[in-house]
Amino acid sequence: MSSTIAPATSKLALLGGTAVGKITYPKFPTFTDWAIERTAEMLRTGKTFGVGRKHVQEIGEAEEVISQYHAGRHVLATSSGHAALQSALAGLEICCGDEVITTPYTWGASISPILHQNAIPVFVDVERATGLIDPELIETAITPRTKAILAVHLFGQPAKLKRLREIADKNSLMLIEDGSQAHGAVSGGQKVGTVGDAAGFSCMGGKLLATTESGYMVTPDENVYWKGAMIGQHMGRATDGGMPEELQPYTDSLVYTFRVAPFNAVLLTEQFKKIDAELDSRRYHADLLRSHLAGGKYLKLPVYGEGDKPSYHLLSFTLDSEAAGVTRDTFAAALKAEGLTAVGYVPSPISDWARLQWQDYKGPRVSWLSSLEAAGIDYRNMALPNTRWRVDNALETGFDMVEPSEPMVERMAEIILKVESNIDELRDLERREGPSAPAVRG
Ligand SMILES: Cc1ncc(COP(=O)(O)O)c(C=O)c1O
Repeated sequence: MSSTIAPATSKLALLGGTAVGKITYPKFPTFTDWAIERTAEMLRTGKTFGVGRKHVQEIGEAEEVISQYHAGRHVLATSSGHAALQSALAGLEICCGDEVITTPYTWGASISPILHQNAIPVFVDVERATGLIDPELIETAITPRTKAILAVHLFGQPAKLKRLREIADKNSLMLIEDGSQAHGAVSGGQKVGTVGDAAGFSCMGGKLLATTESGYMVTPDENVYWKGAMIGQHMGRATDGGMPEELQPYTDSLVYTFRVAPFNAVLLTEQFKKIDAELDSRRYHADLLRSHLAGGKYLKLPVYGEGDKPSYHLLSFTLDSEAAGVTRDTFAAALKAEGLTAVGYVPSPISDWARLQWQDYKGPRVSWLSSLEAAGIDYRNMALPNTRWRVDNALETGFDMVEPSEPMVERMAEIILKVESNIDELRDLERREGPSAPAVRG
């Protein structure tokens, strides 16, 4: 692909010029008429609550479709991505002071399942270009209490699964994947969710595979499936059979309600029929944008390795603000005035968040503070230089280009190149008025 966009030098909209035009996306998510008819039928027949896969055929069907998408793994369809991740941890028996090495640069719900298991998140820094966990920092964080690595495939970008698997195996650790933002992404030729000992995915309505609110856990080990199911399903409501005998004495209704609702099971099945075509479309448009931006100087997209195929849930840029001579926030204000809204998705390292600071915590009580205190973990003032750099310099924007959208991609490139070619005026503005308001997710 080659670029046809000439950088516009006309006056920036932020300075009173004419805006390039608003970036809009095709409607997403969409549901086929058949999916809508099938869910309506569930309501008509009164099949509404989440029970076992054999009792409600639609749950079995969804789990079979998901299994086929993930190399035949065992599947537990759940009520949310959080439920899927917590089921994964429970299935692997990670709890009660066990340490889990993970990333401080993600959506908080990657971490809250660790806390809800009374396990201890141990944060290591990320790679600057992508914001994904840096595998080479993991081994120095291992202690005798470390049980697992939890890697997040953030923004649709696949973490380095081959390397993570090697490190996990070498150190007898479990590997857990959070694929909530990366259904169908590929890392070194391997699809996310097919390398870890368990993986959790969110299928809430804003995700690549969208239902209303649901998720799923996948694992190669049937026992992990059952132990995961045990914490989230009223077994008295399930008529599945097949639970290993040694687990049976421990099943009861001391559980969360994590099983998928049949309504969402139908949507899971139907949405999986569309996902690959939608991912192809996202990838095509991302490559097109990349080619249009080939001459750009300051705002960069990450370059991915051979065999890596992101899913482009969001587009993640980084600004070389030193070279640009303006802050990310002023650059983002200029993009927004032209028609492209982009913000820093992660507002601060998770290790800085108030609800992890047990030493001087004053907010509403939360259950994990006592586990953190008992472990003596101290998250105050962690260095995390790349995470902090990204908090100041990353810009994420939606990218639901699931249908032909070439003119919108051209417009996006035009906006970015226009701001870049007016960088002197933007620098002057910042010198006069100071940086714009923080461009971070609220
Ligand atoms: C990276 C990540 N992990 C976990 C979750 C939790 O998923 P859910 O909202 O379905 O519980 C999300 C969803 O927002 C997410 O983006």
